[in-house]
Amino acid sequence: MKLTVYPSAIETSRAVILHLIKLMSKEPEKVFHIALSGGSTPSLMFELWANEYADATSWRRIRFYWVDERCVPPEHSDSNYGVANRIFLKHVPVACTDVFRIHGEDEPVKEALRYSKIVEKNVMSRNSWPEFDVVLLGIGEDGHTSSIFPGQEELLASKQIYAVSRNPGSGQERIALTGLPILNARHIIFLVTGKNKAEIVKKVYQQSSTGPAAYIAHHSENVEFFIDEDSRFD
Ligand code: 6PG
Repeated sequence: MKLTVYPSAIETSRAVILHLIKLMSKEPEKVFHIALSGGSTPSLMFELWANEYADATSWRRIRFYWVDERCVPPEHSDSNYGVANRIFLKHVPVACTDVFRIHGEDEPVKEALRYSKIVEKNVMSRNSWPEFDVVLLGIGEDGHTSSIFPGQEELLASKQIYAVSRNPGSGQERIALTGLPILNARHIIFLVTGKNKAEIVKKVYQQSSTGPAAYIAHHSENVEFFIDEDSRFD
């Protein structure tokens, strides 16, 4: 498991973008299926990607999916798609047919099944699970990742590609990519920044945490951490 510390959140975000561009350059014929996480951390990366790396990106070779979505309409401020579209997707030449939005506004159980089928149809399978080229993950201070929260570890072994979960703090329902398809990805990238994440990053990396993020971090060979100085540990 590789971990690299960058001087700032901006440089960490920049490093992730450059890493994605490099991965794509190594397979110039391949379409990359990339699942994006939500929350606030990726916003800086989205802005940089749209403002500084749009010309360096082969947009026609990317299909965008979401790791998880809050069960709210896309125009809601909580919507992971809504944030990504507003600051990133609508500013770059990616075809709307190459962006697969989770319908947070729809009935969660039905949407989890619908979106699982969408991913199954569009993403090649390996080991009978869809194989994303990249799954971009964040880590919550409680050690959750995707929208798999501590206490919901059964979602790490779910037979469904996407399942319904619930944020224990707010009670908000989520649609979440489950553990096995996450672990099946070719590249799992944890993008974590900020002083408030230093403690959980240390626990996850040193496996002293038993939460969902730690489980993912230690059950795949293809995990890489991109963190900033503020979230580093000694
Ligand atoms: C979400 C995310 C979630 C996020 C972590 C970190 O929908 O909230 O997918 O897993 O990555 O909660 O969130 P922050 O980046 O806001 O700290």
